[in-house]
Amino acid sequence: MNTKTLPFSKNQLEVITANVPTPFHIYDEASMRKNARAMYEAFAWVPGGFMNYYAVKALPNPHVMVALKEEGLGGDCSSLAELKLCEAVGITGEQIVFTSNDTPANEYQKAFELGAIINLDDISHIDFLEKSLGGQLPELLCFRYNPGPLKEGNVIIGKPEEAKYGFTREQLFEGYRILRDKGVKRFGLHTMVASNELNPDYFVETAQMLFDLVIDLKNELGIQIEFLNLGGGIGIPYRPEEKAVDLAYVGAHIKEAYEKTIVANDLGPIRITMECGRMITGPYGYLISRVLHKKAIYKNYVGVDASMANLMRPGMYDSYHHITVPGKEEGPRKVYDVTGSLCENNDKFAIDREIADPEVGDLLVIHDSGAHGHSMGFNYNGKLRSAELLWKGEGKYELIRRAETYADYFGTLDYPGLG
Ligand SMILES: Cc1ncc(COP(=O)(O)O)c(C=O)c1O
Repeated sequence: MNTKTLPFSKNQLEVITANVPTPFHIYDEASMRKNARAMYEAFAWVPGGFMNYYAVKALPNPHVMVALKEEGLGGDCSSLAELKLCEAVGITGEQIVFTSNDTPANEYQKAFELGAIINLDDISHIDFLEKSLGGQLPELLCFRYNPGPLKEGNVIIGKPEEAKYGFTREQLFEGYRILRDKGVKRFGLHTMVASNELNPDYFVETAQMLFDLVIDLKNELGIQIEFLNLGGGIGIPYRPEEKAVDLAYVGAHIKEAYEKTIVANDLGPIRITMECGRMITGPYGYLISRVLHKKAIYKNYVGVDASMANLMRPGMYDSYHHITVPGKEEGPRKVYDVTGSLCENNDKFAIDREIADPEVGDLLVIHDSGAHGHSMGFNYNGKLRSAELLWKGEGKYELIRRAETYADYFGTLDYPGLG
């Protein structure tokens, strides 16, 4: 039987829940750090140094970001709040890449103030940025390339030609020409064409596509790209039978392509960067819930105290998240829909899934909640956002975000009797 293990025991979880009521997300710090190191090892060969700008949207908690910063990761931000989080934990300057779309002026202003690498999503944003910054442009700018029909996409991000992001190939050349003529001195090139992709060759092909573009840009415009950003999108094995992307394989094959293209054409050194979020924190988060009810009608249901408001991926994308019942790994199994209490029939963590047969009162763990879990949470039906904990090993943990209270929830309503 395929399953997934936990970094803590059932008893350790029960001790935690005596202090922090379910539901909550808990993240395994040691495993996140180990994984981040493996990524840096795979790209240790990159001239000038590799950087993964951690996509803050995956798990925007400063306590986690500090740990990742200690492992050498920067921050990929797409909003003002994410920029502020980076600033608060001391990720500043070119350790930040600001990859946003449909961007308001104040966000560009904040990114500029922090010295972040600004990655433009559209050719019209050159003027918009210049106006937002009072008539100036940064010395360094980067463009997001959307290869359209030249590259296949995948389910979450869709086909590149249907995705709203980035420049067409023609716009890319025109855009760099404009930058060059306006006196911009340093150039980066970015793309992000897949999300949650498990095929390692996909990232090698993406790198090759950008290497080829570097040559064309040099030949046509005479500009030297200083760094490439291959985007995020490295997938994680949500299903126990899936395999994590072999980072060493990806690193080694990108190196080969770099040598054949960039080095052979004497275009180096060019730094290589990424902005992965999901693979950095996703597998190391667990949504801990308790079984409130069991119900048998036309189907069998297990109702838990977490809901889609804590983790919307299954309801939104029909995504698989593995479910285990601590202490019942070896016991009888049964097919259930696992549901939350929202008045939405898609508030289901699993449909027709065989799981360990739980009793009312048992803990139930929803795996891989470390990316786009708490951060995509919402308050429908007045559900309060949950606490977040950092698991330190050997029974130790830290509360890194308290649960919302009704005072928080009603705090924006000026109305007597609510609080
Ligand atoms: C521009 C951009 N960069 C990076 C990421 C991170 O992707 P992932 O967490 O899948 O690695 C995303 C994801 O939404 C994104 O939109």
